[in-house]
Amino acid sequence: MPRGKAPDDATLAAGEVLYTVHCATCHMADGQGEEGLGVPLVGSATVRAADPSTLINVVLYGPHLPPGLEVDRSPMKMFGKRLSDDDIAAVLSYVRDRFGDGAGAVTPEEVARQR
Ligand code: HEC
Repeated sequence: MPRGKAPDDATLAAGEVLYTVHCATCHMADGQGEEGLGVPLVGSATVRAADPSTLINVVLYGPHLPPGLEVDRSPMKMFGKRLSDDDIAAVLSYVRDRFGDGAGAVTPEEVARQR
């Protein structure tokens, strides 16, 4: 599988902190998830995809919520209003590097385009 451009160390460090605070409670520090809380991110096609746009949408709008649909059935919140483009780019760069087999960095510009 082609690997994307690796994130720099500062982005990875910021992403790890954000992941620990916002995501690890359900997806666990090792990305393996926890029954009844969060699905595994390790091995997820969404996380590993060369094109990160689906992954960005999951974090901006929630796992089941395409933009425009207001039903909120998932325990995973929409992070679009809580996290900045820089924060979402950093946390997803970390997630893709650590759990996505080096799938490649996500830029704040890519996040901004999907808002
Ligand atoms: C309150 C628990 C919770 C938190 C916090 C949470 N998630 Fe989730 N997440 C879930 C659940 C549950 C699902 C599965 C939803 C479903 O498919 O119904 C999910 C799905 C996902 C998916 C889709 C996986 C796939 O293979 O389709 C990704 C990616 C993801 N979460 C990333 C994140 C990131 C990144 C964060 C932090 C910014 C985060 N989640 C925070 C519970 C959580």
